[in-house]
Amino acid sequence: MTVATATKTPDPKHNLQTARQAYYDKISKYDMAPLWEVLKNLVTQEPKSQCEPALWKFEDAKKFVLEAGEVITAEEAERRVLVLENPALRGKSRATNSLFAGIQLILPGEIAPAHRHVSSAIRFVLEGEGAYTAVEGEKAMMSPGDFLITANWAPHDHGNTGKQPVLWLDVLDMPTVNHFEASFAEHFDDKMQNTSRGDGDSLAFYGSGVLPDGAPVDMKRTPIINYTYAKMRPILERLHKAGEIDKRHGARVRYANPITGGPVLPTMGANLALLPKGFKGEPYRSTDGTIFVCVEGQGSTTIDGKLYEWGPKDVFVVPPWKQYAHAAAKESVLFSISDRPAQEALGLWREGA
Ligand SMILES: [Fe+2]
Repeated sequence: MTVATATKTPDPKHNLQTARQAYYDKISKYDMAPLWEVLKNLVTQEPKSQCEPALWKFEDAKKFVLEAGEVITAEEAERRVLVLENPALRGKSRATNSLFAGIQLILPGEIAPAHRHVSSAIRFVLEGEGAYTAVEGEKAMMSPGDFLITANWAPHDHGNTGKQPVLWLDVLDMPTVNHFEASFAEHFDDKMQNTSRGDGDSLAFYGSGVLPDGAPVDMKRTPIINYTYAKMRPILERLHKAGEIDKRHGARVRYANPITGGPVLPTMGANLALLPKGFKGEPYRSTDGTIFVCVEGQGSTTIDGKLYEWGPKDVFVVPPWKQYAHAAAKESVLFSISDRPAQEALGLWREGA
């Protein structure tokens, strides 16, 4: 007896996929891959950020970092810092793709020993008096709202000679430096560096409309160690009174390198903005993912359609190219920092509404 067997019609699409996969598997052994399979994700029509909007309440950060103070000393930890990890980038020690952010605690009597590294750092003081950061021979006492800079390879150490815990926000360009795989670091035998200048010398010498005779005419980063809030806050007030209020950003100043007028660091740039009471900002977006700190006041920021409410010392992140708009219930001051200078230097930075 003859049994008729049904022959399957070949599926040309299936055959093509099988042939392609076999081809991909073959070239993979030679460390090659087909660009056409990944091109759309590599060359996006507009920025597709891996990070998410995020907000950290200061009361949570303070509670947890004070707990860390009970289990490890600043010296043991080298730097006692809680990393603010973007929820979409957990395990990568970054707030945005290019920037690290953390909350650092230094308790009375503690020292965070002297070292230096290629990553530039900034400190934005959140709470407490009596701590100092010594950078390149200048010992700067830190007060809430102060913005301190430790540029690439500058020796620095911290200490607390006061009676209160002192907390600040650290932001470093570590992910950027590590992207280029250009990190170096060095520790010093002496825990504290010798200081050779007075507190506030660099701001007085370079940030007062004059420059020391013989000052360099070009400098990639600012010579100022501490842009004190005591000096910056009245400037915002004057801008406000003069009606110089940007519809998106409020009465805003950009921290500048007084030698060039450019950003304070080649990798990171920062602003300080006053939002008048009742301010309702127009929507804005830019390619630099931005870390904000509420210095004072109360308000909210709508990021990509979602409302984030902030109060004093809260930290929040706006990812690249996500539309945002600020609103202030009370007169408020926002500090912000991003990688805009790096993007501008590379011709990448864009902004929009
Ligand atoms: Fe450091």
